[in-house]
Amino acid sequence: MKKLLLLSLAVAAFVVTTTCVTSCKKSETTTVAPTLYDSLGGTTMVADPRGGMIETGRLGIRTVVDSTIFVIAGDSKINEFFTTLLTEVGAGNTSGFSALEKTLTDFFCVATGAKNFTYGGKSMVAAHDPAQNSRMNGKAANADFDQFVTDLVKGAQQVGLPIDLIGRVGRVVETTRTQVVQK
Ligand code: HEM
Repeated sequence: MKKLLLLSLAVAAFVVTTTCVTSCKKSETTTVAPTLYDSLGGTTMVADPRGGMIETGRLGIRTVVDSTIFVIAGDSKINEFFTTLLTEVGAGNTSGFSALEKTLTDFFCVATGAKNFTYGGKSMVAAHDPAQNSRMNGKAANADFDQFVTDLVKGAQQVGLPIDLIGRVGRVVETTRTQVVQK
């Protein structure tokens, strides 16, 4: 009888424990804050005007990058840094432009929180050091960086990026200042 009682107690304890493990688990209410990439459209797939499908966030970033490169190309305050690129494009060779568009897009996708892309370009220091990147025509000063940001804001405005998102992109860009400015 004593044995039976002990056995029943053991079974009861087992049932209570298992039920608790499976159903008394504290409900998980952790919410993950949306990244800037999410706010830019995130991973929702849309038709890429160039063909195929593309994440909305990446399409938005690429659109801003393109627009900004055109603003910079026409800005005599900083376009001399991009002489190699602009000379190539002027001669009908757009390979450098396509490469820069891709690295910049990858960089901003990763920097804003995208999960499905990686940045494989040079480090920010190497990319902006003429000794390590012959395509960088001179060292940038703080004023050049400011001008770059001004052009980025113009580029983003031209494609209709809302002001709050422009501000958030601006804050991401600002984190690179000490690496880009080398003068
Ligand atoms: C504001 C933040 C900036 C970011 C996030 C940025 C990012 C980049 C990236 C990702 C590359 C490509 C690196 C590679 O090819 O591996 C690049 C290249 C370059 N950047 Fe920047 N950059 C910034 C500011 C500037 C500024 C202020 C200048 C000059 C005033 C500048 C001039 C250049 C030039 C000339 C290149 C080479 C372009 C080419 O391939 O012909 N960048 N930058």
